[in-house]
Amino acid sequence: MSSAKLVFEGREIDLPVIRGTEGEIGIDVSKLRKETGLITLDDGYGNTGSCQSAITFIDGEKGILRYRGYPIEQIAERAQFTEVCYLLINGHRPTNEQLSKYRNDLTHHTLLHEDMKKFFEGYPPSAHPMAIMAAMVASLSTFYQDTPEEADLNIVRILAKSKTLAAFAYKKSIGQPIVYPRNDLSWQANFLRMMFAVPSEDYERSPVLEDALNLLLILHADHEQNCSTSTMRMVGSSEANLYASISAAICALWGPRHGGANQKVIEMLQQILERGGDLQSFLDRVKSREVRLMGFGHRVYKNFDPRAKLLKGAADRIFNELGIHDPLLDLAKQLEEAALRDSFFVERKLYPNVDFYSGIIYRAMGIPTEMFTVMFALGRLPGWIAHWKEMREDASGYRIHRPRQVYVGENAREFEPR
Ligand code: ACO
Repeated sequence: MSSAKLVFEGREIDLPVIRGTEGEIGIDVSKLRKETGLITLDDGYGNTGSCQSAITFIDGEKGILRYRGYPIEQIAERAQFTEVCYLLINGHRPTNEQLSKYRNDLTHHTLLHEDMKKFFEGYPPSAHPMAIMAAMVASLSTFYQDTPEEADLNIVRILAKSKTLAAFAYKKSIGQPIVYPRNDLSWQANFLRMMFAVPSEDYERSPVLEDALNLLLILHADHEQNCSTSTMRMVGSSEANLYASISAAICALWGPRHGGANQKVIEMLQQILERGGDLQSFLDRVKSREVRLMGFGHRVYKNFDPRAKLLKGAADRIFNELGIHDPLLDLAKQLEEAALRDSFFVERKLYPNVDFYSGIIYRAMGIPTEMFTVMFALGRLPGWIAHWKEMREDASGYRIHRPRQVYVGENAREFEPR
């Protein structure tokens, strides 16, 4: 094993070097403080590897994303979301038999405990569905126990019930009766029916919408150590249960710098349109740091985000198939082109991320803006679970996640009696 040398105040310290299977190199500083009293400081963890993981590989410079070694482009074209859940969580593709059992399990655990319905009644109609999701997922831990015997079942339960929770939250927000899941439908068809069916008329399935949803879910399914996944690992490292950890990850995802950006992109595009569609004056506001260009920029991708590329292509196809025209899609494309010609964005290597086009597709599917980040959460669920499980099942054990700090506050002083 090679090592790196740190020289500090005349002293040389050897640090072990870990090499990943794709050539990434990490300097292992885990013993640094014990041996030297020093810590590393890395605001926002931009340069810190928090774990070794075998789930997802990203090369941000080349625009590569792979789940368990499989390129995202191939998975997006050839897989169903349930298979991707299995792949991410279990580390290998299921056999046909395993897949059909998995699909069956994910279907037969979709119902919620009837008592949970009462919880929805307590929220005001204006409640953001992400708040409802976080609360309801945490509440699942009051119905299902965190025992080793139920560990796998709890994973199936949350994968199955999350879409029911999301659809019920939506129905509650618009005052419509909830629609119960059905066991003869796929994950996607079941969710869309629970979202859009009403008791007063027949519900017609749409293969176009089901395929679009499948693609969106797959593209969001994992993205290694992002903010919400790191939260999932962080909370899970305290041995908090699966539902509590997911609830925390949902809250982390909600923020506009992370998953909440998909809602903000649409709001931004609408504002530009309302102000007459003047892209240059909007970009000037971005450059003067008055606002951020939502759906642009990424901590890891310094080239294109392959998910954004796939979604941009899919948007045209889906709009054609649905026979829809949305001025926001035209505006988004013009905005992307204008930004990519502008040295501010070029120099900072800012490209559209997954959130730039996803919201436009959700809109075309009839999903309301406030539900966009919930859709992201439904897709990201298998990734969160895969990371939680990888950490908890690590044969070499895991430590509670507990970063250090460099204290810059007051020195010791007397607390004088009054
Ligand atoms: N609009 C304008 N300027 C930006 C943007 C943006 N969207 N993103 C980054 N920048 C600028 C920063 O101001 C900074 O400029 P400076 O060096 O002159 O100060 C430079 O680019 C680097 O940006 P950081 O904020 O340091 O990059 P970081 O890696 O910390 O942040 C993030 C990444 C949060 C995604 C950021 O690009 C952003 O806020 N984007 C908009 C929100 C968004 O789309 N989030 C979704 C991300 S994808 C996801 O979570 C699924």
